[in-house]
Amino acid sequence: MSNIGSYEERLKNFDWSIAEKELGYEEGDKLNIGWYCSDRICEMGKKDKIALYWEGHSGKERKFTFDEIRIDSNKIGAFLRSLGIKAEDRVCLFMDKIPELYIGFLGVLKIGAIAQPLFSAFGDESLHVRLDNAKTTAILTQRKHVGKVRRLLAKSPYLKHIIIVDHDGKKPLKDREISFDMENYEAPKDFEIHQTTAESPSVLHYTSGTTGQPKGVKHVHYSIISQYLTAKWVLDLQPDDIYWCTADPGWVTGTSYGIIGPWSQGITQCVLDVGFSAENWYKFIEKNQVTVWYSAPTAIRSLMKAGEKVVQKFDLTSLRHLASVGEPLNAEAVVWSEKVYGHPFLDTYWQTETGSMMLTNFPGMKIKPGSMGKPFPGITATVVDTKTFEPITEPSKIGLIAFKPGWPAMMRTYWENEETYKSKFKNGWYLPGDRAYIDQDGYFWFVGRDDDVINTGGHLVSPFEVESALLEHEAVAESAVVSKPDEVNMEVVKAFVTIKPGYEINDMLELKIMNFIRKKLSPLAMPQEIEYVDNLPKTRSGKIMRRLLHAKEWGEEIGDTSTLEDDE
Ligand code: WTA
Repeated sequence: MSNIGSYEERLKNFDWSIAEKELGYEEGDKLNIGWYCSDRICEMGKKDKIALYWEGHSGKERKFTFDEIRIDSNKIGAFLRSLGIKAEDRVCLFMDKIPELYIGFLGVLKIGAIAQPLFSAFGDESLHVRLDNAKTTAILTQRKHVGKVRRLLAKSPYLKHIIIVDHDGKKPLKDREISFDMENYEAPKDFEIHQTTAESPSVLHYTSGTTGQPKGVKHVHYSIISQYLTAKWVLDLQPDDIYWCTADPGWVTGTSYGIIGPWSQGITQCVLDVGFSAENWYKFIEKNQVTVWYSAPTAIRSLMKAGEKVVQKFDLTSLRHLASVGEPLNAEAVVWSEKVYGHPFLDTYWQTETGSMMLTNFPGMKIKPGSMGKPFPGITATVVDTKTFEPITEPSKIGLIAFKPGWPAMMRTYWENEETYKSKFKNGWYLPGDRAYIDQDGYFWFVGRDDDVINTGGHLVSPFEVESALLEHEAVAESAVVSKPDEVNMEVVKAFVTIKPGYEINDMLELKIMNFIRKKLSPLAMPQEIEYVDNLPKTRSGKIMRRLLHAKEWGEEIGDTSTLEDDE
């Protein structure tokens, strides 16, 4: 029997207090995610249960019990406090998927500070704009990434502490740097968890939009209520499960379901900190006897590409339940996974702002491959008309996805950007910015984003950010960035540029520009193709018409360009 049991029954008498009761939380109580994910599990008699099996490069392995993550997160909390870091200060976690990242996240929360996880592959500029927006006080990082932090020190006076978690003492520490060795740091005797409450800020995740700089999505400790219950009912986590969430905690999936969801229910999880290959992944599943696997469509498509033969080399019979998030999960991937793993990947839809799963396929529910499923109990979801924002009642008619605000994990605002936050609500609905339709059976089907944001391999890339970065390259005069189709990543970044006089167009220049973006932003944002043009299509007011370029890339009808011009 699955945790959710009957979806229809759950809908009838749903209340978020179900999660509150299970977590022993009552309105007005103190609430701290760090405590819930470690101390409470120990108090429930699971202190010796494994919380984390970790594997890194060259087969290095570590494992931690719940008691160990409790103690180690206390150490990190105590260390941060010793530096003078206090509640609501922003502490960035800028690390690969090493244990210090997962445990550090809890440590930051335990002292009431705000955890700001950032993807470790971010380049200088991507890192800087996010730290600058949050006015981050401290950053936890590794030797291999500290160079990027050093380069932005001069323009980041607010950044007071650069904490290196793997400093080997070989090279001297530089300005504002300090070493923290989690293993050898003395465990604090009477560590006190900060008395956060439901609405105390917890996590700041950055997400990209079409215009402007990335936005800091502010979450609060109460988000655990949604994350706990969705993890329990949708991922169907059972006490003996070995769970693997492949997402990096630099992104929301890696915290909501790679830390909080599983650990708040005392589930053992495993983490693989090496690059993707089908062999590596299957070997990891076999070795750890993974039972529940939460991944993303691009990874699944890459596994499909690697083929069935490689699957047969491994024993994957431990797998019991698979789910996916981040981008459209095509029907073929669902059918294929059922064929080769014996279980279909169940699609789930949500976003950084929603903090927890919104539309999902549940264990035991009839799956329609290609559909995102139905709203999680407690979530009122519909599609609304693009102009009136009234719910569309006709089945299969496309509109904007819309949610009634009020679930526990909903963002509370965008950091220092209340205006944009407010603009996400229309006619009493929260609009995540995606288009979809609902079929006659109440299943949601994804159609596309309602903006120009590029979703490449499940990661959102802002065309604006890439265009701005391109303009900083000495050879580029103008730029326009759109997505182009890709077999595995669904979409990849493509740049159209005009070149300044005196520069020669050749392969070298292309490589240089690509590399420039990779280092400045990230490998994800790097254009996979650069097309040189004499002119970029513009509106009468001089705005670049991305939609025209986009339509060409996707072989769509361009339609009446005069309306496109008027549109702007
Ligand atoms: C897209 C990731 C289709 C969507 C958790 C959303 C999806 C954005 C799906 C959020 C899905 C997420 N099918 N598209 N199942 N899940 N998306 O903030 O456009 O990184 O708004 O959060 O990814 O991306 P984010």
